[in-house]
Amino acid sequence: MTLGIKLKDVAVEFDGHIALSEINLDLTAKSVAVIGSNGSGKSTFARLLNGLVKPTSGSVKISGKAATTETTGFLFSNPDLQIVMPTVFEDVAFSLTNQKLSKDEVRVRVTAALSQVGLLELQESNCHTLSSGQKQLLAIASNIVREPKLLVADEPTTLLDLPNTVRITKLLHELELDQLVIVTHDLELAATCQEVVWFEGGRVRKAGKPKAVIAEYRKNFE
Ligand SMILES: Nc1ncnc2c1ncn2[C@@H]1O[C@H](COP(=O)(O)OP(=O)(O)OP(=O)(O)O)[C@@H](O)[C@H]1O
Ligand SMILES: [Mg+2]
Repeated sequence: MTLGIKLKDVAVEFDGHIALSEINLDLTAKSVAVIGSNGSGKSTFARLLNGLVKPTSGSVKISGKAATTETTGFLFSNPDLQIVMPTVFEDVAFSLTNQKLSKDEVRVRVTAALSQVGLLELQESNCHTLSSGQKQLLAIASNIVREPKLLVADEPTTLLDLPNTVRITKLLHELELDQLVIVTHDLELAATCQEVVWFEGGRVRKAGKPKAVIAEYRKNFE
């Protein structure tokens, strides 16, 4: 059972500029890709899912509840933006700051998260010495340590080379999540998801099975 991401009659306006309108979606697939041109509203949609953007009208529900940073983990394309502490271990532990856990509990959770992404050996390293791929793995660890039900990744592979793209894609699909949303311009990555939503001009142009949606998207630009 996935969480269910439900958007009902959602519109988002920024200072009179309409970024999204008439969005009605009921997403139940375990993994959902979001595609569309620059400025089509993908990141705005992604930010609705963790409550960083509030709908101007309509409602956004994750498993029947309001979307917040507690329900939803978030990955940016540039992992540098997510590093807040000097060392790898401290950076992941920082995500647990408000959870009232003992030092031992924090160590167990952080160690498990770092093992899952394959960064345990680098736990004492300075974050800024990591490669781009390793920084993205670190950002994933900092998210999963909080055990979110939903993870939203906004262009998580944009800065990565092919081996790291393959690695991060595989890892994202292997994480113990109820639902995963990946915003991407990489149609191969989009095709790894179970459902694809195509945004155009702030509206949903098409949503459904990857093959059909991606084929129509490609055709549109031929
Ligand atoms: N905080 C904001 N204030 C004002 N306008 C915004 C804000 N965020 C987004 N917009 C506008 O909303 C529209 C959709 O932007 P959004 O970032 O969602 O597009 P996108 O599909 O993610 O594009 P890209 O592929 O370039 O990342 C754009 O016209 C953008 O300028
Ligand atoms: Mg964007």
